[in-house]
Amino acid sequence: MASRTLSKQFARTYATKALKIGLIPGDGIGREVIPAGKQVLEALPSDLGLKFEFTELKAGFELFKQTGTALPDETVEVLQKSCDGALFGAVSSPTTKVEGYSSPIVALRKKLGLYANVRPVKSVEGIGRPVDMVIVRENTEDLYIKEEKLYEKDGQKVAEAIKRITERATTKIGAIALEIALQRQAIRELGGASLHSQPTLTVTHKSNVLSVSDGLFRETVRKLYDSNPAKYSGVQYKEQIVDSMVYRMFREPEIFDVVVAPNLYGDILSDGAAALVGSLGVVPSANVGDNFAIGEPCHGSAPDIEGKGIANPIATIRSTALMLEFMGHPEAASKIYAAVDANLKEDVIKTPDLGGKSSTQEVVADVIRRL
Ligand code: NAI
Ligand code: MG
Repeated sequence: MASRTLSKQFARTYATKALKIGLIPGDGIGREVIPAGKQVLEALPSDLGLKFEFTELKAGFELFKQTGTALPDETVEVLQKSCDGALFGAVSSPTTKVEGYSSPIVALRKKLGLYANVRPVKSVEGIGRPVDMVIVRENTEDLYIKEEKLYEKDGQKVAEAIKRITERATTKIGAIALEIALQRQAIRELGGASLHSQPTLTVTHKSNVLSVSDGLFRETVRKLYDSNPAKYSGVQYKEQIVDSMVYRMFREPEIFDVVVAPNLYGDILSDGAAALVGSLGVVPSANVGDNFAIGEPCHGSAPDIEGKGIANPIATIRSTALMLEFMGHPEAASKIYAAVDANLKEDVIKTPDLGGKSSTQEVVADVIRRL
């Protein structure tokens, strides 16, 4: 099996035992789509040699309302001590500030050192614009460190926020983005169809204006790329200023393979990229650290369709495959991707967000049949 360094790094820990997966449904349709991820894992062909054990874990706004805590210590402890990977559904957030509440997924990313947010965006052959890209967003710093202050000057309010870019965090995000570029190539070589014949890394920045902070981001990734030609020479290196990146992403999305970006640009680019492939219900993500990954659909708790059994499970199923990729099982991941693509391509068994009439469970059954 063509597995790259990233897989090996993860695979070491997971060699023979059953894989323990934490399931954190959260709120709303999180409770309807996380079981889909579990069902698909259980249905993987036995010749892949993978076994799973599941542990259901609590988090979310509902839980906060009942108990006063959104992320129990027990959830974090079980993930840290006895899980190999996890799936997170969605959490509702109140629109006005609620004393004592903060987002459990943000806290989890911090506690588990999940410094990369990985969001693949892929079209299905023959449907819409061709896209096959992945955005790798730095998840720990930049403007999102929330070091803000408000003061008055000459009788007028002034707000300031610190944008922090460090060489340490940028080296880590650059390294994982390069590994993902190599890993994607390895998955293509397992037979996955793709727009790309060669892996490409595009570094997004605004260093024409923010020459110090974004300059450090750009230079650090470049330095890392140059530091190991033996490993990275198969990857094409490109740089793109963020505003023209947005323009090009909508004009010619097919040219992008792996895009690496500081936190804020990555956030904006990844929601924009999701618009290229239609429903939020099909876009997966993963929160990734050095030895742990949490798969997470990009959508929220969707209170408007909660309890109706029509939530699209595909974002979660793809997030499950992504989690497996980071756990060092690209073969199982590519089987799931292929089954999902076949379902989407046939365009019959689909939930209402994609214009269909099928239920969540009908889509799950169809994907499982195609495994
Ligand atoms: P949302 O993603 O929950 O829903 C937006 C629209 O997309 C809704 O019309 C919904 O029905 C539809 N949709 C989303 N996922 C779908 C799926 N799998 N299948 C079919 N249709 C789907 O975003 P919204 O409405 O802005 O937020 C609702 C709640 O979710 C809020 O409390 C928000 O704070 C939270 N949220 C949580 C996120 C997370 O946990 N990572 C991310 C985004 C929002
Ligand atoms: Mg966002």
